[in-house]
Formats: sequence, structure tokens, C-alpha cells
Amino acid sequence: MSELSVNHLLGIKQVSQEDIHLILETAENFKEVINRPIKKVPSLRDFTIANLFFENSTRTRLSFELAEKRLSADVINFSAASSSVKKGETLIDTVNNILSMKVDMVVMRHPNPGASVFLSNHVNASIVNAGDGAHEHPTQALLDAFSIKEKLGSLEGKKVVIVGDILHSRVALSNIFCLRKLGAVVKVCGPETLLPKHIKSLGVDVENNLDKALKWCDVANMLRVQNERMSTRYFPSTREYVAQYGLDKERLNRLDKEIVIMHPGPINRGVEISSDIADSQHAIILDQVQNGVAVRMSVLYLLASKLKHYNRN
Ligand code: CP
Repeated sequence: MSELSVNHLLGIKQVSQEDIHLILETAENFKEVINRPIKKVPSLRDFTIANLFFENSTRTRLSFELAEKRLSADVINFSAASSSVKKGETLIDTVNNILSMKVDMVVMRHPNPGASVFLSNHVNASIVNAGDGAHEHPTQALLDAFSIKEKLGSLEGKKVVIVGDILHSRVALSNIFCLRKLGAVVKVCGPETLLPKHIKSLGVDVENNLDKALKWCDVANMLRVQNERMSTRYFPSTREYVAQYGLDKERLNRLDKEIVIMHPGPINRGVEISSDIADSQHAIILDQVQNGVAVRMSVLYLLASKLKHYNRN
């Protein structure tokens, strides 16, 4: 198979195992491209892509923009904070105005879960979800899978624990879908208050004790406590959270094996992970960021290939 089964990337839930393998294999080629002295290819020379960010971002926004430029696409960037959204313009009006300027694809981050699905039902463009509230962040899950595969050779049978604020995390949900589709065994670990009630229905086990979870796993993905999505307190104090769920050198030294440490960023240093671990050779945090460009090039290239095929011939 050399074509995606979907016309948009709205969430990992909607993509097949074959789609994921195709994206990851294509990303390997693009990783080779971005390590060349000339990092650019002409694949999307006749495409225009709009990056619409209704919520803050550093990594995802810059990574998509760089991926688009490496593919030679024309790029326009929109940030809600400095737009006519502030004057009351709706999402669909905003996007239709942008599309009338002959835009082919839209990459969107939005605080509302389902915003990308809504958009895909109402506008005529290929939509890529760059994070919709606490719902999904598909390209983060794909770059995480790519990074694990790069480090450990495959995902099949690998034990991955996702630690921390699972309740508010789009990264956790997309990772659970993606890792399970690729044959990994997934556990979540965190305080009961930060675990969704029906999390086990997604096919994951729960381990509340971080030391036990670390002993079990090959990979630990440490998530940020998302204070900005909390309207109440979910644990007694930050000090208590760090004692129970923070990963530091002492905790890691108690293990009698090597594990791979991941974090999607941004990091709360000294909370979910200490600086000495985040900056150590055990962590692949900056590899994840680097791989994000290749994975996003792959997603954009594969979606654009479908557009070329069906709309443009
Ligand atoms: N990992 C991630 O989505 O980071 P940003 O919020 O900075 O894009």
C-alpha cells in the first residue's frame, strides 16, 4: 500500500495500522532528507498550507512550518490572538476566508475537542489536527512511535508506561491508540484523580505506583501536569506530586536496567521530571522534536499526494 486510507489526519483513532506504518516508513526517508546539506525537496511546490493556531504552541507550530518549507510548500500562519476571531468571527468563517485565498491544506490547533472533525465536515480542504483540547494530538503520537522504533528497533511487544496527568492529555490518548495499533503493551501511571474513570476500556492497565511501573517498562513517557486545564486541585501539593510521580536520578538509579525516557514538552522541570534526567543520555526528548519534522513532512506529503490524485488531475 502506498496511499493513506484517510483524506485528513484528525486523530489516531481514525487511522489504520497500515496507515501508521506507511507514515513511519515515509518519515524515515524524510529524516534522511533533512540530514542532507540541502534539506529541501520540491514535493509540495504547488501547494499552499495554512497553519491555524488557536492555542499556544512552540514545538508543533514551528515543526509543521519547517516541515512545510522543507517540502517547498507556500505557508501562511494564523494566530488567533492577533486575528479577527477577537472581533467575533466564527471558526468556519475564518477558515473559509483563508481557503478562498486558494489554500489546499489546513493544520489546526484548537482548544475545543472535536474542532478538527467539525472543520473537516464543513470546509473543502485537507485538515491536519495539531492538537484539539484534551482530545487528540496525532502527529505527537506518530513522532513518539517513530522515536521509540528508532531507539528500540520496533514497537511490537515493547512495554510503555505513560505517567502523570492522563486526564487532561491529548498526547496520552493519541499515544494509547498509536502504540496499541503497533503492538506495544501500554500502562498508565498517575494519581487516581488524574486518570479518566474508563481508561481501562482503551486496553491499558493502570499502575498507581511509579516505582513498580518503571520496573515493568522499557519506555517511560513523562507527561506535564496541565495546570492551565485544571479548575480545581487534583493532588495535595506539588511537593507531594513530585514525591509520588516525579522522575529523578535517585528513582532511576534504583532500577537495575536501562529504560528510554520521553517527554512531549513543554517540561515542568523539577515536577514530572528533574533536570538531570531530562538533560541526560537516558532521555530522547530532543530526538523526539527532531523526528517531529520528518514525521510531519511524511503526513503532509501523503495527504497532499491524495489531493493531487483526486482533486487536481
Ligand atoms: N508537544 C507539544 O505539542 O508542544 P507544543 O505545545 O509546544 O506544540
